[in-house]
Amino acid sequence: MKKMLGLGMAVLCLLGAQWSLAQQKTVKDGVFTQAQVDAGKPVYDSVCRTCHDQRFYRDTLRSWNNQPLLWLWESVMGTMPADNPGSLMFQEYTDVIAYILAEQGFPAGEVALDPDNGMDEIHIVQP
Ligand code: HEC
Repeated sequence: MKKMLGLGMAVLCLLGAQWSLAQQKTVKDGVFTQAQVDAGKPVYDSVCRTCHDQRFYRDTLRSWNNQPLLWLWESVMGTMPADNPGSLMFQEYTDVIAYILAEQGFPAGEVALDPDNGMDEIHIVQP
């Protein structure tokens, strides 16, 4: 019986480890494409650049450490650009986020960033 319990615990630990691994998807894991970065740059330059520099985003990402990327996207969409909140298209906000992440040194990958698909499971980490 004791042996069984031990085995059960081992299996549970294994499951736990896998669960936490699956949980730990972050912005380091290539969560946007280069095409999104390229599309985000002109939007950023014309709409966001006037008020923030990249250092601001570095500090912002720090303060959002461990939060889902979707929350940042929602916050930016709801409040930015400060002089005309919500004025961009969903896709433009997404591309701008991809561009900002790339500028902060996070890698592009194969799968496009998509607020309707798993962005709540991507966690922000400090640049
Ligand atoms: C007219 C000036 C202005 C423009 C344009 C602007 N912002 Fe902001 N932004 C602000 C101000 C003011 C704040 C809040 C005060 C602060 O934290 O400095 C802010 C805050 C933010 C934050 C922090 C939000 C948070 O909840 O932590 C992010 C991220 C951000 N802006 C991104 C953007 C992006 C992306 C764009 C372009 C789509 C943009 N901003 C355009 C003025 C601006």
